[in-house]
Amino acid sequence: MKQRSGKTVGAKGRHRVQSQLPREYRLSGIFLVGFMGAGKTSVGRALARHLNWAFEDLDERIERLERRTVPEIFRESGESEFRRAEHAAVRDVLTELQGGAVKIVALGGGAFVQESNAALLGASGVPTVFLDAPVEELWQRCLKQADEAGAERPLLRGIHQFRELYETRRKHYLQASHKIQTEGRAFEEIAAEIAATLGLKKIEIRTQQGEVE
Ligand code: S3P
Repeated sequence: MKQRSGKTVGAKGRHRVQSQLPREYRLSGIFLVGFMGAGKTSVGRALARHLNWAFEDLDERIERLERRTVPEIFRESGESEFRRAEHAAVRDVLTELQGGAVKIVALGGGAFVQESNAALLGASGVPTVFLDAPVEELWQRCLKQADEAGAERPLLRGIHQFRELYETRRKHYLQASHKIQTEGRAFEEIAAEIAATLGLKKIEIRTQQGEVE
């Protein structure tokens, strides 16, 4: 349905609002990439509020598809099975974007490191944004989340292993189309920088009653 603002709103409301991404991007999605503790979910939510886009955490899609939590998948079936499910979830979300969905997606810390996922995302022409921070800050954020929210991360073992994994992965994250420094910054400020970098402004959605959301 065409709205007065000129934006198309389908049955799923803002999920189908045209994204206004520059033409060089072929799909209306933004993928947030980075290590554990990078703030992908929190920044993703802030960016969704900032732009009036939908937000999705890929780990939640995996949990829905698998009917198990991420720690359960790791415990019961191992990391390779988790990576298989993660790849299927990346494919699924890209299919939705190809169908016209508009959303910000927070990837799990290992998703972009898998060549098969990075290749799919690269070929799809979506912006991928690496949220960068020093490894010590990432570690402290993960400890805080475990403490305050009971967040269980199967790959969070000790600082030594954490640092090693970060160092192996960083070169992969640097393949993302954009990099944003997050050290000591608020989620909203980071979200605003991503929007500005991609040349995006908040979309006004008109409800059927003509009210602006
Ligand atoms: C993982 C990170 C987790 C989750 C899974 C594997 C990783 O997501 O996908 O535990 O390989 O770094 P977060 O980055 O949101 O913690």
